[in-house]
Amino acid sequence: MREKRKLAVCASADLGDRQHRIVHLLFKGKKHTAIVLRHAGQVYAYLNQCVHMVRRLDCVHDAVFDEQQENLRCSMHGIVYDPATGESLSVLCSGEKLESLRSAEIDGQIYITDKRVKSELCSRR
Ligand code: FES
Repeated sequence: MREKRKLAVCASADLGDRQHRIVHLLFKGKKHTAIVLRHAGQVYAYLNQCVHMVRRLDCVHDAVFDEQQENLRCSMHGIVYDPATGESLSVLCSGEKLESLRSAEIDGQIYITDKRVKSELCSRR
């Protein structure tokens, strides 16, 4: 049996609630970054690309959460996203969703397990 592709992100203990990591990777063969975050105990991963324009959510400010650390927020024009679904909660692009990436926590480690993703010798912050 082939082993599933897993891209290591960080130790589970190093990603607290409402915290995130930026992971550099290849998505469908192209360089991208992903946002890996924990919200209400659950880990989620999204391609770091706004639905409004081809911009990273952290393109203007080095943050992906809003000031209350409740929702994700694009720093360009301010679209707010539900961290659990990636859906735009703003009037602008209402209902559109960030590209979700499959992720998993296994034995105290967080991984991106999406088959569209490959490692790009990751750089994280
Ligand atoms: S580019 Fe993200 S809100 Fe406009």
